[in-house]
Amino acid sequence: MNQDQLKQLVGRAALDYVPAGQILGVGTGSTVDCFIDALAASGIQIPGAVSSSERSTQRLAKHGIKVLDAAEVTRLAVYIDGADEIDGRGFMVKGGGAALTREKIVADLADQFVCIADASKLVQTLGAFPLPVEIIPMAAAQLTRRFAEIGGKAQLRGGVVTDNGGHILDVTGLSITDPLAFENDVNQWPGVVTVGVFAHHKASVCLLGGADGVKTLKF
Ligand code: A5P
Repeated sequence: MNQDQLKQLVGRAALDYVPAGQILGVGTGSTVDCFIDALAASGIQIPGAVSSSERSTQRLAKHGIKVLDAAEVTRLAVYIDGADEIDGRGFMVKGGGAALTREKIVADLADQFVCIADASKLVQTLGAFPLPVEIIPMAAAQLTRRFAEIGGKAQLRGGVVTDNGGHILDVTGLSITDPLAFENDVNQWPGVVTVGVFAHHKASVCLLGGADGVKTLKF
């Protein structure tokens, strides 16, 4: 199976976690696109979804799935999203699709984070994938220097403006051995909107697609 087929496989597997009759949190990315398509084809009825990006909102709407504003819900049972990296504890790097801020906001509303990913996303230590950080544009140079101080090389993602009007720094050269401490620390740097480490909002379950099918990791 190629990577696209694995994404479709885990997208379909995630249907088992959709709480029928309840509002669902929906993430962003190519794996989530597969999930949205599978949800639409499944006939499972939900009253609506809270979306983490314009991209997912459009796809949900195209399928006739109602999209609700985050302000309209107080709690979600489940949030389903992909990841750029996930480790053996459920800590993740996210934001390859530049939607990390809204993803963290919607994940924060949810009791359970169901991560869907192909097996290439499972890592020992976070950091090989360039870490996305959403920033306030005027802080770019200052934050680039701060990342350099901890061994990271930050590069502005050219031509990208997030759904919130922010910019994205992609940071290479990091080995994130303590994701909780790292997230706490970087979140304090002025100009950082959201760091793409999801440690405080880690996955509760990961459906990992590989050659042998879907493996369920619980954290
Ligand atoms: C979007 O900003 C990201 O957090 C995605 O969830 C992540 O990049 C995974 O995307 P793919 O499913 O496209 O690999």
